[in-house]
Amino acid sequence: MESIIRLQQGFSQVFGDADGLTVVRAPGRVNLIGEHTDYNDGFVFPMAINFDIVMGGRRRSDQQVRIYSLDYQRTVEFSLSEPITYDDQEQWSNYLRGVLWAVQRAGIDLGGMEIAFFGTIPQGSGLSSSAALEVATAVLVQRLCGWTLPPRELALLCQKAENDFVGMKCGIMDQFISVLGQKDHALFIDCRTLDYERIPLELGEYRILVCHSGVKHSLVDSAYNRRRQECETGVRILATEYPTVKALRDADLTMLAACRDRMEPVVYKRCHHVIAENARVIKSIKALKAGDLVAFGQFLNQSHASLRDDYEVSCPEVDLLVELAGQLDGVLGARITGGGFGGCTVNLIHAGAVEAFNERVVRVYQEKTGIEAQVYISTAANGAEILN
Ligand code: GLA
Repeated sequence: MESIIRLQQGFSQVFGDADGLTVVRAPGRVNLIGEHTDYNDGFVFPMAINFDIVMGGRRRSDQQVRIYSLDYQRTVEFSLSEPITYDDQEQWSNYLRGVLWAVQRAGIDLGGMEIAFFGTIPQGSGLSSSAALEVATAVLVQRLCGWTLPPRELALLCQKAENDFVGMKCGIMDQFISVLGQKDHALFIDCRTLDYERIPLELGEYRILVCHSGVKHSLVDSAYNRRRQECETGVRILATEYPTVKALRDADLTMLAACRDRMEPVVYKRCHHVIAENARVIKSIKALKAGDLVAFGQFLNQSHASLRDDYEVSCPEVDLLVELAGQLDGVLGARITGGGFGGCTVNLIHAGAVEAFNERVVRVYQEKTGIEAQVYISTAANGAEILN
């Protein structure tokens, strides 16, 4: 309710009144395990979080689109009669522009709109504020323009916006979980078939604690796209020996070992991470279903080591957070989450140890790095929904 009121107030400041406003929300996510596997046709296991984008809008009778960001207090305006182009000045607007662009490309009906939004997901933290912004836009626009896409199609459309308009070659995980998340469940996604299973997150006395290192990542045009290429190189080499390998999803560690001397060491390491990580996702879900949180935590720890050493997407600050968390009683597992190069750790922690986390992880981290880490406790939240 509070967020609807905040949105309405912001909207009416810019657009006169808030009559006939449709309000939606789309959550960010924390990935529990399965990192850098989605674009390798592999497995991921994220949950939606209680931090989201709240967006409201209404139709106009013409072709003008006006968008107001409450957080930046900036407005952009463009016409749908002309090609939608990338905005170098107001970068935030490209996630919305990208979705409208993808809708047009899909040949779906659009009309003029007034839109306002704000967000509570820390940006550049690896909690998918961009995917949430795309998904909120798609959910709002389909309601305003009177069409409906099946959830998977909606997620794919948002991914297309990010891949081909914004220029970040992300996989499907973030948009998918933002659309399909469910309260108290994490989502096992097979990123090849897009089949999914909602798995109850029964953690008993344990909590999912997300800790932001304060180091902002920047993924567009960066090392992320390079990692993808390294994986593709690995697949090409594996496929010469094993023609059934279409993606790293199809390979196992024995096959990789057999091709090792034909690969650059760096390509080998990237492939090793992805192949082992896929197996860890399956094993950790099994552990979770069996109620074995200790084993689940160990898979988180192994995932971190692999992301740090083989995939090389961690950074000293995040490694420090993981190391300090590992020294704390009551923490069953900790690892970097999301695209990497900064951002957040995800920790499986006993409720009774949260205070000690602040005392011994956050405080020591600040002493050593001078950075104040932020701590968020989140339950698994619903995916995108219409609020009014
Ligand atoms: C980013 C991308 C996702 C995924 C993760 C790494 O969040 O958007 O598609 O590749 O990195 O697991």
